[in-house]
Amino acid sequence: MRKHVYALGGAGLLLGVSVLAAQAQTVAPTTPPEPPKFDAQQVPTFVGIKDILEFKALPEYREPDYVKAFVDAGKLPLVAERLPKEPMVYKTANMPDGVGSYGDVIRHVIGGRPEGWNYSAGQTQGWGGIDIGLSECLTRTGPLFQVKAEELEPLPNLAKSWEWSEDGHELTMHLIEGAKWSDGDPFDAEDVMFFWNDVLIDPQVTPLNGASPETFGVGTTLEQVDAYTVKWTFKEVRPTQYLYSMAYGNFCPGPSHILKAEHPAYKDGATYDQFKNAFPPEYLNMPTMGGWVPVEYRADDIIVMRRNPYYWKVDEAGNQLPYLDEMQYRLSTWADRDVQAVAGSGDLSNLEQPESFVEALRRSAEETAPARLAFGARTISYSIYPNLSANGWGEPDARGQAVRELNRNLDFRKAVSYALDRQALGEALVKGPFTSPYPGGLMPPTSYYDNDSTVYYPYSLEDAKALLEKAGLVDTDGNGFVNFPADVQGGADVEITLISTTDYQTDKSLAEGIVGQMERLGLRVISQSQATNQRDANVLAGKFDWSLVRNGSDLITVVQNTQNLAPTGPQISQAHRAGTDGTQDLLPFEQEMVDTVNAFVATDDPQERIDLMKTYQRTYTENLYAIGLTQYPGALIINKRFANVPAGTPILQFNWAEDGLIRERLYVPEDKQSDAELFPDTLPGAPGKGNGPIASN
Ligand code: GLA
Repeated sequence: MRKHVYALGGAGLLLGVSVLAAQAQTVAPTTPPEPPKFDAQQVPTFVGIKDILEFKALPEYREPDYVKAFVDAGKLPLVAERLPKEPMVYKTANMPDGVGSYGDVIRHVIGGRPEGWNYSAGQTQGWGGIDIGLSECLTRTGPLFQVKAEELEPLPNLAKSWEWSEDGHELTMHLIEGAKWSDGDPFDAEDVMFFWNDVLIDPQVTPLNGASPETFGVGTTLEQVDAYTVKWTFKEVRPTQYLYSMAYGNFCPGPSHILKAEHPAYKDGATYDQFKNAFPPEYLNMPTMGGWVPVEYRADDIIVMRRNPYYWKVDEAGNQLPYLDEMQYRLSTWADRDVQAVAGSGDLSNLEQPESFVEALRRSAEETAPARLAFGARTISYSIYPNLSANGWGEPDARGQAVRELNRNLDFRKAVSYALDRQALGEALVKGPFTSPYPGGLMPPTSYYDNDSTVYYPYSLEDAKALLEKAGLVDTDGNGFVNFPADVQGGADVEITLISTTDYQTDKSLAEGIVGQMERLGLRVISQSQATNQRDANVLAGKFDWSLVRNGSDLITVVQNTQNLAPTGPQISQAHRAGTDGTQDLLPFEQEMVDTVNAFVATDDPQERIDLMKTYQRTYTENLYAIGLTQYPGALIINKRFANVPAGTPILQFNWAEDGLIRERLYVPEDKQSDAELFPDTLPGAPGKGNGPIASN
């Protein structure tokens, strides 16, 4: 109704509307174009989960000689006492190059900057795999790219095994027994319960990556059974899907013995802000369950991490992992990560910015190239997420609220989609067979993708303009940009901000392209480009009109972070969350998406799941929950001196390559080892500000 009223700007205008409306849909929605052929350059060796790892005690354990020196000096317990009763054992047969040797360093380069070490309270460590390495989670999914489809389920990790109750509502999980944090404090159910009660359930605390209780299902509860056992209770019957939700970055408990001391529930007078900021980057040796511990930080320069002497994983020969003694993170730019990895001064990059593809390919093809480069499937994609909350989320001003009302109008979203020349957007990033127009929704690499259920609004400026008018937007002042109807915002020009990050050239190019293409439509879009940390804070707070997003693993796999596929909880969606009054104001099609996703989680019937995802895809793409832009493959670049690199490791699938690679198993054969360690022969010292690595003598 309203949109017709909007269009009644005057008799002349009305005529204009009807003429254009009659021309509408000259180009009917279709299915997306066939992407250019681009074969992955390596395929994984597919195995079962039991082929990768098991938990068991071995007759003896080993450690690097220099760590033994700490034991001899009385500074560390014996290695057997530092390990859990039954460590995780990686099987030799699944290691591409077998049992490794100790030493050397992996040099990462990142464009992010650390806010601090309080992952549980939402601080980033600068991305690029730092937090992935520090965060050991109940289950693990990064390496699943190499698991056979018929055996696909999350890998055990901090939870070494689990079983379902007869009625399927209860899941009992057994934690690794006798494992320790990197400072020697025991890891047990207390850490898991602190994460549940005082991080996830506490509405004032949100961990990095945004998990909330609903991430594990609405109405789900968790309780402690004993020191090494916890029990989940679900509303659904046997929702195995949530095992994926318990992997990175949703259920990765922090050191409760350290965090509790600063948390307002335990510390008199402490505020949540103080809690969040109690562990700044200068606080070193922050206890972790991960393979390496941060021992040095220099602003805008480097983070250095040394091996965790309490790490709870070993190889079949009993060698305590990791093999690599040090991990470095140069604080630079993401583009520099590509440059350095190709040049050999860095060791690893996820080549994900198409602007670097041609040069990286050229240099890596040279015989003397220090790094190998392998492209994977088309798993990188970008979308515009229109903020669909008209319920006060992020407390928008009148203009912001008016834009959200527009965002909620399907004709408006369709107009935007029709006005996007996705081919041109992709080609502005890189020419060649890489990019392909992306309508939004599930991506072709998941087996749940169905082209016929995918609705694509191809480029058609006429259709776009007609739909914009249908949505009530007309250029009443003749300045080339459409105005709000007279009774909204005083008929001012519609102005929409597009929030994005400055940290990636690709994001900058896409934002620029969108602004230009929307200008042709007569829609004024203002690019609001910010450093990632700032952008993320604004998006999480709901302070945006449109957000430019590089999509995550939910759309690539369906089974990883399934609950994120729709606004299944008040804090789940990245563009539609509960408002100040707690209501969600879901549009009917969003409710359908939610119902479909919930039905998917509640069944394990394969055919039913396939059908549900077809429905999901149609609902999503027809209604443009988010508006897709472009999709393309990325390449993993890794220095040739590393062994045990699994074939076909994708830069992003269930998780980023920094997880998929299983870095704790990477090693450098002795004859290839570098002398790049910055703190040789040291281990993490006591946690605290101003502390650093320590030597054995
Ligand atoms: C950033 C990088 C990705 C990947 C992730 C890991 O987002 O752009 O390539 O390294 O960090 O969290």
